[in-house]
Amino acid sequence: MPVSDTTISALIELKRTDGEGLVAQLTSQLRGLIATGRLGKGRVLPSSRRLASDLGVSRNTVTYAFEQLAAEGYVAASRGRRPVVMIDGHERSERGAVAAGECVGKLQLSPWATKLQQADWPMSYRGELKPLRPGLGDFREFPNEVWARCLRRSAVHAGRRELGPVNRLRLREALTHYLATNRDVRATAEQIMILPSAQAALTLIAATLIAPGDHVWVEDPGYPGAAAAFHASGARLTGIRLDEQGMQQMPGLGAPRLIFMTPSHQHPTGRLMSLARRTEFLAASRPGRTWIVEDDYDGEFHYDSRPVPALQGLDAHGRVFYVGTFSKAMRSDIRLGYLVAPAALVSTLEIAQQHMGLIAASHIQEALAEFIADGHFLAHLRRMRRLYHARRDHLVEELQRHLGGMLLVEVPPGGIQLVARLERGRTDRAAVKRLVEAGVETRALSSLALGKPRDHGLLLGFAAWRENEISAAVRTMASCF
Ligand SMILES: Cc1ncc(COP(=O)(O)O)c(C=O)c1O
Repeated sequence: MPVSDTTISALIELKRTDGEGLVAQLTSQLRGLIATGRLGKGRVLPSSRRLASDLGVSRNTVTYAFEQLAAEGYVAASRGRRPVVMIDGHERSERGAVAAGECVGKLQLSPWATKLQQADWPMSYRGELKPLRPGLGDFREFPNEVWARCLRRSAVHAGRRELGPVNRLRLREALTHYLATNRDVRATAEQIMILPSAQAALTLIAATLIAPGDHVWVEDPGYPGAAAAFHASGARLTGIRLDEQGMQQMPGLGAPRLIFMTPSHQHPTGRLMSLARRTEFLAASRPGRTWIVEDDYDGEFHYDSRPVPALQGLDAHGRVFYVGTFSKAMRSDIRLGYLVAPAALVSTLEIAQQHMGLIAASHIQEALAEFIADGHFLAHLRRMRRLYHARRDHLVEELQRHLGGMLLVEVPPGGIQLVARLERGRTDRAAVKRLVEAGVETRALSSLALGKPRDHGLLLGFAAWRENEISAAVRTMASCF
């Protein structure tokens, strides 16, 4: 409802103790009255002298507020004249602000955002981090001092560096060398794109290659971040069952547009895809209709034999994307991942990368290049490999000792987590709920199934947890079961 001249000052409440100055308070409250239509278009405001005297503030305070509102286009003010309201506000709320979560009109989300909301990702863990949350390396063991020195040097030298390109050459070269010698990835530096995460790589691939209705195969159970990225882009997902050799080839299903897989340590089971199976998938991609996305999120951590070379290195036809992340090998909050793209797609992906703004800060890229080139990355990996190996064995022993009759542990040859299956007839979601209340965090295996879950079990992280934490968590689990 419009307000009279005399009530304008009554509607304004200035707090002298407020950290916000009087001018800012007055400007914001007048702006609110205009935006809500209580001071309508064409309304002449009181003179600065009158409003100042009604409010008990200096005339300058009111003049500065009027000037600010004039600069923002809310009022027209000229010397010697009282300001006039210039916009048509809307009668909405008394405070003039739109309440959180509200907006005018109907929310019409894009198909992409609608599908994102249907996906069970990002995973929701409630509350603080607890043992044995899966998916993490031990950030407490990360050499923060060394990393800080690399960051500092990179920031100090920023002045001497040229701006751009978005994918820093030094890091691309350091990664090319690291991936060739340690993971048998075959690529030139130009094929490497530096991204804020592995998830960014999946989103980029989906946006670049997937049209609504395209068939995409994912492992079942599998990594929900990948399923979400492809589902949101309109793909029709098929969950492919696993056997002892990992994801199975399904010639009867025709040729999909894309296959997503985690051959080094299948997520979540940790199974290693056999060479025979890798060769079959590569052969299936050869006619040129199917792309393969190899997600090597924790391939650095292999304990029982030499790490198995990446599938990408066996591909002679440019059909494999190799995705990696530093969120397991370094810290989960480092927010750096990468994509080794087939050469034919590099320029398209680089354009898409910039459109989507999936760019990692260049001083962090430079710092990481130094961290790798100076040997700190490999030294950290060597140390973590020993530590995580011992923790995996410790968790397996503890589970067998305390819960051997109830859980069937699948010992992965590497990685950062393992699956312990529940006896037939027991459901995992209720167990996960009970455990989290008791202080042990796990993920239900059934929640990682694409369709109707076939198996129930617990996904347990071991890499991030010290042996005494693992022992305590397993004792708690035993008391809950
Ligand atoms: C299979 C798999 N791929 C990718 C990622 C995510 O990596 P980033 O944090 O770099 O997106 C995870 C994280 O848990 C994962 O389990």
